[in-house]
Amino acid sequence: MKIIIINGPNLNLLGMRENDIYGDETFTDFLEKLQQKFPKVNLSCYQSNIEGELIDKLHEAGKYFDGIILNAAAYTHTSVGIADAVRAIKTPVVEVHISNTFSREDFRHKSFTAPYSKGIIVGFGLQSYELALQSFL
Ligand code: DQA
Repeated sequence: MKIIIINGPNLNLLGMRENDIYGDETFTDFLEKLQQKFPKVNLSCYQSNIEGELIDKLHEAGKYFDGIILNAAAYTHTSVGIADAVRAIKTPVVEVHISNTFSREDFRHKSFTAPYSKGIIVGFGLQSYELALQSFL
């Protein structure tokens, strides 16, 4: 099974950014452990701070992967373009968030991508990604 994690803006700063909300672990360290835990899964990861690049990657992932784990980060709450890309592709998308977006500012309660996602996993720290991966297995 081929799964790709697509991370949006500022998630390259995990481990350095707002540690009280997002924790101390870098995504590289987390990903290494996740791959070790699920050796049979062919796991890829992509991160971009640029909306159009995330859209291009979703189009590509829609052709080559069995499942997509998407944390569009701030674009979740703003991007019709990313939502349309999720809608356009056939590969199922599971939306994840590290923090519980519903316990934060009102503008984080809206997700443009959630209606077109297979499901959403929110608020379990980096474990949200692992739960999303398990949902594909
Ligand atoms: C986030 C939540 C978003 O509101 C925020 O803009 C992020 C990260 C999360 O994983 O908790 O950058 O997607």
